[in-house]
Amino acid sequence: MFTIRIKNRRIKLINWFIFLGVVFFMVYLVGSLIFMLPIFKKTYNYKLTKENYSIINKVTFKNAWFNCNTKEEYVIDADDEDIEKLIEKDLISDGFKKKKDKYVRNVKRFGFCKDERDNYKSTHSKNYVVFKLNGEKEQKVNYGNDFTDPYVTLKINGYDDKNVEISSNFNKNKVGSYVISYTAFISNDYKQRLYRKVNVVDEESPKLELMGDLMLELDYGSKYHEPGYVATDNYDGDITNEVDVKNTVNTKKPGTYKITYKVKDSSNNIASQERTVTVKEKTDSVNKEEPDIEVKDGITYVDGILLVNKTYGLPKDYDPKVNKEALAALKELQADAEALGFELPLISGYRSYKTQEKLYNKYVKKDGEEQANTYSAKPGHSEHQTGLAFDVGSVDRSFANTDEAKWLEQNCHLYGFIIRYPKDKTSITGYIYEPWHIRYLGIDTAKKVMESGLSLEEYLGVN
Ligand code: DAL
Ligand code: ZN
Repeated sequence: MFTIRIKNRRIKLINWFIFLGVVFFMVYLVGSLIFMLPIFKKTYNYKLTKENYSIINKVTFKNAWFNCNTKEEYVIDADDEDIEKLIEKDLISDGFKKKKDKYVRNVKRFGFCKDERDNYKSTHSKNYVVFKLNGEKEQKVNYGNDFTDPYVTLKINGYDDKNVEISSNFNKNKVGSYVISYTAFISNDYKQRLYRKVNVVDEESPKLELMGDLMLELDYGSKYHEPGYVATDNYDGDITNEVDVKNTVNTKKPGTYKITYKVKDSSNNIASQERTVTVKEKTDSVNKEEPDIEVKDGITYVDGILLVNKTYGLPKDYDPKVNKEALAALKELQADAEALGFELPLISGYRSYKTQEKLYNKYVKKDGEEQANTYSAKPGHSEHQTGLAFDVGSVDRSFANTDEAKWLEQNCHLYGFIIRYPKDKTSITGYIYEPWHIRYLGIDTAKKVMESGLSLEEYLGVN
C-alpha cells in the first residue's frame, strides 16, 4: 500500500484523505453558519425611494433605509451637505449621527416596511394621499352673494398639491341646491373625487306696506274701504297678489277689529301687518252710507248681494235653477244635522216663476190675497226663484218649537245660510216667521248678518 512518512511515522494515505475530508467539512460547516446568520436574524431593510417617501425626496441622497428589523433605525447615505439641508428643512431632526460615511438616528416612522407597504398600496394606490374637503360639506349662501369656496386639501406623499379640477352648476341668482365636485388627479390613471352641497337660500322676508292709516274709525253701518297694501320681495318681486287679508270688520256691530295682512315668499319667509278698525256705536246723528244698489238684467244686487223681496223682484224669464254651491252647503248642513239626530228634509228648493205663480194663485184662492201675501211671495218676488233658498224640515208653524228649528237657527250660518224671515222682523220682511226658509249668502256674509241680529234688509240698509 502507498504510504507517506512524516517524522518517521508512516501514515496510510487513506487516513490523510479522511483527515482532509474532516477539515474541509468543518470549514464548510463554519462557513455555512456564517453565511446563514443574516437569514436566521431575518434582517432586512426597506429601501426608501423618492417615489414612496416624500420625506427626503426634496434632497439629493444616495440611499435611505428604514430598518425593518429594529423598526427604529433610519439610515441615510448622503453627503454632509444634503444632510444639512434635511436638518434645515426640519425633515430630519436632532439625534442624527454619523456612523462612518452614513447618518443614523433613531426616528419615528417615516415609512412602511415591505409587507406593510404592499398592504397599503393595495388599498391606497401607490401614493400616500390626503384628499379632504375644507369646511363643512354642506354650505349655505344667501341669494345673490358669491360663494367663497373653502376648497379642499390635497396632499400627495405629504406635499400640497393643487392638481384639483372643480366643476359646479352653482348659480347665485337662483334659489336651490347645487353640487360642487372636486377631482384630484393623483396620477395618470388614478383620481379621487369629493362633493360639496351648496344651498342658495333666500332668508330675507318680503316687505309688506299698508296704505292709509293703521288705525281707522268707522261709523256704525258704514262701509269699510280697504286703503290697500303693497308687498315686494327681494327674490320674487311684486307679490301683492299673494297677500292674505283677514278682515272680520262688521260695521253693524260696534267694537274693535283687527285686519291682518300676511304674505309669504316662495322661500316661505313671512311678513305680516295689522290694521285696527274701530266701529263706533250707533248714533242718531250718524249719516249712514247709502247702500250700493245695482240692477243688472233686472236683478237687484245690494253691495253685491242678490236681493229679492216685496220691493225688488226678478224677471219672469230668470231661470237659474238651483245654485250648486248653495245645494252643496245644504247637503253638508243636512248631513251634520242627521249626525246629531235631527232630520231636516228638503221641502222646497228652486221654484221657477211659473211654479211660484201657480202656488201663489192657489193660496189666494184659499185664504184671499191679503192673507196669502203674509206667507207667499208674488210671482217674480220669491227667493226660491234665485235657486239660493230652501225650505227644510217642515213648513208647518209647529216646526218653530222643534229642536231641529232651534239647531237650524243657531247653526245655519256656519254653512252660509240665514233664517231669511225671522220672528221679530215680520214688519220689515213683510212675511210671517218662517223658521224653515233659509237663504244662502256664503259663510262670511251669513255670519256677519247673524252676528248683527238684523234682517237682510236692515243689514244691507234697504227697505
Ligand atoms: N214663503 C216665501 C216668502 C216665498 O213664497 O218665497
Ligand atoms: Zn221658502
